[in-house]
Amino acid sequence: MPPPTLDSILEERRSQPHQLIEVLQDVQEHYGYIAEESMRTISNELGVPLMEVYKVASFYKAFALKPRGKNVITICTGTACHVRGAKLILNQAVGQLGVKPSEVSDDGLFTIEHVNCLGACALGPVVTDNGNYHNHMSPGKLRKLIKSIYKTDAEEISHD
Ligand code: FES
Repeated sequence: MPPPTLDSILEERRSQPHQLIEVLQDVQEHYGYIAEESMRTISNELGVPLMEVYKVASFYKAFALKPRGKNVITICTGTACHVRGAKLILNQAVGQLGVKPSEVSDDGLFTIEHVNCLGACALGPVVTDNGNYHNHMSPGKLRKLIKSIYKTDAEEISHD
């Protein structure tokens, strides 16, 4: 089934500012990110100032304002993880994938993000892949994790 259009996402929600988060969730889910053009349309159709739409969309980590790779590796660089070597883990990911944080790898498979806390400080350094938590991360463990994601994706492609 093709993804719904922005028009259909907004259907029955027009002029209802309280629907903002639900609309943003649907756009994120179906398009993978919330484009500036979409924010303008949402602002006009719901009757919410564009600045407010932008503030909400940029506040929640679940929303992306740029396209992301198929897999999102999120590395916590907050204080508790930082003192346990988060920088080395970030360097591992950037070096292995050859992509800067927040950008998409050339093959479209990965985006690396870093955040200030993933809510599991005692278990740091913490990394998530597509929302799955990995505690007590090390550069070596991350290297294996990324390899296993590549392997899974290659198998999926060969079965298509
Ligand atoms: S600082 Fe890393 S999980 Fe809280």
